[in-house]
Amino acid sequence: MNQSQNGAEAPYIRIANISRQYGQVRALHDLSIDIDKHEFIAILGPSGSGKSTLLRLIAGLDRPTAGRIFFDGVDVTDLPPHKRGIGMVFQEFLLFPHRTVRENLAFPLRMTNQPPQMILERLDWAEAILSLNGLMDRYPNQLSGGQQQRVALGRGLVTHPTLLLLDEPLANLDRELRNEMEVEIRRYQKQLGIPFVYVTHNQEEALSMSDRVAVINGGKLEALGERQLIYDHPPTPFVARFVGKSTRFDGAFDAASKKVDLQRYNYSFPYEEVAERKGNARVEVFVKNERFELLPSRSGSAGIPCTVADVVLRGPFVEYILETEADERIIAVQPKREEPLALGTKLSLSWNPSQCHVFPAGR
Ligand SMILES: Nc1ncnc2c1ncn2[C@@H]1O[C@H](COP(=O)(O)OP(=O)(O)OP(=O)(O)O)[C@@H](O)[C@H]1O
Ligand SMILES: [Mg+2]
Repeated sequence: MNQSQNGAEAPYIRIANISRQYGQVRALHDLSIDIDKHEFIAILGPSGSGKSTLLRLIAGLDRPTAGRIFFDGVDVTDLPPHKRGIGMVFQEFLLFPHRTVRENLAFPLRMTNQPPQMILERLDWAEAILSLNGLMDRYPNQLSGGQQQRVALGRGLVTHPTLLLLDEPLANLDRELRNEMEVEIRRYQKQLGIPFVYVTHNQEEALSMSDRVAVINGGKLEALGERQLIYDHPPTPFVARFVGKSTRFDGAFDAASKKVDLQRYNYSFPYEEVAERKGNARVEVFVKNERFELLPSRSGSAGIPCTVADVVLRGPFVEYILETEADERIIAVQPKREEPLALGTKLSLSWNPSQCHVFPAGR
C-alpha cells in the first residue's frame, strides 16, 4: 500500500474532483469518491446522471476534463485502459457468438499474450468459481440468460483485475433471475476481495448488493454513505425521493412551538429542528410508504383522515391505496395480516416524527 504525502495510507481507489464536459453538456462535475479495497460500491442515479461516464473515466476509456484518478496512491489518469488492471462487465453481454464459453473466457488473456499454462489455470479457476461446469464447450446461444451473464462476469474476472466495473449488467434479465444474480455477484465480490463498482439506476439493486451507495444527480455526487444510512437518513430531498418509495407533503415549520404543520390536512406533528433553515418556514416532508401508521378513524387519534380505495397484495406485504379528503392518493405499505382492511374503511394516517424526513422547501 502506498503512502500519501502526509504518511497516511492512500485509499485503494481515489477519484479526486473529476469533471467531464462534452461540449455544452456537463456530464460530471467535481466528483470525488474514495473506494476501499474490500468494498462493493453502487453508483445510483437516474438516466443521464453521468454513471457510465464515471465508469468510463475509471476504466480509462475516456479522459476527464479536470481532476485525477489514483489507484493505490499512483496517478493513473493518463494510463491507457489495458495498463490499469481493470475488469469490466456491461449491460449487453457482448459474448462472441461464434466462440465457446472457454474461448470467450480465454479472450482477455490471449489479448495480453498470457502463457498457455496460465490461461489453462485461469479457465479452471473461472469454471469453478462461477459454477460453469459442463458449460465450457457450449456456445452463448446454448446458455440461459443467467449463465451468459456468469460467463460475462468470468470474462471480467479472469485477468484477476484490481477492481471490477459493472454497468447495469442485470438490466436484461427477468426479475427473479436478477434477484438470484444480485446475491451471487455480492458473494463473488466478498470471496475475491477486490472492489466492485456497480452502476445502476435501480435502487433495489443498489441496496441489495452494495456496502456503500453513491447517489449521482445531474453529474454531481448527491450523497455517499452506507446503504442503510442512505435509506434511513436521506441527506437531501432528491435522495429521499429517489431511494425507497416515499410520499411527499408540503408543510410549515414553526420554530416556537417546534411543530411541522401540514395545513392542507389540518395535521401537525412535533419536530425539533429543521437543518439549514434559512428563515424559511416552508418545508417538505417525506415519509417512506412502509412507515405510515394506520389507525381506525374512530380511535380519535390525530392524523390525516383517509379511506381505503384499493388493496394490492404483494406477497408478504399489502399496499393500501388511500384517498384523502382532498382527493389525493397515498400509498401505505403494511405487513400482510390475516385479513386485509376492507375497501371503504375509514382510517387516520400518521407516522412517528422520528421516522420522517423534513427539509426546507425549494432546496
Ligand atoms: N460522448 C458523448 N458526447 C456528448 N454527450 C455525452 C457523451 N456521453 C455522454 N454524454 C452525455 O452525458 C450525460 C451523462 O451520460 P451517461 O451515459 O454517463 O449517463 P448514465 O447515468 O449512464 O445514464 P443511463 O442510466 O441512461 O445509462 C448525458 O447527458 C449524456 O447525453
Ligand atoms: Mg449508462
